[in-house]
Amino acid sequence: MIPLCVPEIRGNEWKYIKECLDTNWVSTVGSYVDKFERDFADFVKAKNAVATVNGTSALHLALKVLGIGVGDEVIVPSLTFVAPVNAIKYVGAQPVFVDVCRDTFVMDADKIEELVTSKTKAILPVHIYGNAVDMDKVMEVANKYNLFVIEDATESLGTLYKGRYTGTIGHIGCFSFNGNKLITTGAGGMLVTNDEEIGKRAKFLSTQAKITLENRGFYHPEVGYNYRMPNILAAMGCAQLENINEYIEIKRNNAKMYTDLLKDIRGITLPVEKEGIRHVHWLYSILIEDEFPISRDELIKRMFHEQIETRPFFTPVHTMPAYVNCRHDGLETTMEVSLKGINLPSSVSLKIEEIEKICSIIRKIAEAK
Ligand SMILES: Cc1ncc(COP(=O)(O)O)c(C=O)c1O
Repeated sequence: MIPLCVPEIRGNEWKYIKECLDTNWVSTVGSYVDKFERDFADFVKAKNAVATVNGTSALHLALKVLGIGVGDEVIVPSLTFVAPVNAIKYVGAQPVFVDVCRDTFVMDADKIEELVTSKTKAILPVHIYGNAVDMDKVMEVANKYNLFVIEDATESLGTLYKGRYTGTIGHIGCFSFNGNKLITTGAGGMLVTNDEEIGKRAKFLSTQAKITLENRGFYHPEVGYNYRMPNILAAMGCAQLENINEYIEIKRNNAKMYTDLLKDIRGITLPVEKEGIRHVHWLYSILIEDEFPISRDELIKRMFHEQIETRPFFTPVHTMPAYVNCRHDGLETTMEVSLKGINLPSSVSLKIEEIEKICSIIRKIAEAK
């Protein structure tokens, strides 16, 4: 089977994790946690980074730190993995869903302003599949209405928007290091910010809001969370980060090859890289249009039969029971794209012959009728 997207473990992962085991520094305190936070902040060029147990906890912390809560509204796309939307619910706020662009599949920044009300407190762009939301437009609306911006840059780690890494443009950026992400720690996340106070507060809340007293006892002035990343996972993160630039280059080269081999096939819409953006192509994503001889779902079955794992685009969150009553702007493009979109295998370890095989199967299907 050619898998959709698997981890790449080729560096110092064993060495650094062994060091944690050999020295007993396996839990939430240890030098690798600090190092991973520093190295990650340096990589994305953010001032502060807080490592967390997963990406969802980073998103929850982000909303909490910015004081978003009951009665507030947060504008978010419906075409996303559910985590950022769940995090909005965790703090008692309401998600309000905005449509996506048909060419980039990410939040349509031109449609945000019409959803803003007196209850709106934040915008939560999600840079899905490695592409970037139009952050200039997002920041313009946020500044006009005094809103916070929390970027979910989980799927766009390494993507540049006008020379800046996604996740570092709004007030807070969140990342996940779940198994299929560009770099992985098994499970893990990171919150980044250029605001020192936000960074300090995020770290404090992630550590059970713990203060160590003079007699070495603990004191907790407010409700906190146990969201700190263990040293053993941070060790893996440090090793993964050492190879990140190579992984980005490979993903981009693989995307280029997919595009070259698929570009003249009728009925397929390819991913776009807008001017000013360096798209990391975390998952190479295409649309199967009506002119293609078989449907998207039929193609997924045919590919599976050929031992190729693909994945349909996200099911829109607003169609799920917990979110059916949320306010939205119609979400026409979201619905269309979610039915036509498919992610093709995108592991860093994907071989040239495998891309050729995948594309030649798609071509054969396209030319069969
Ligand atoms: C866009 C997005 N946000 C958040 C998450 C959640 O991260 P985690 O699984 O680490 O909690 C994921 C995927 O895992 C994701 O794809």
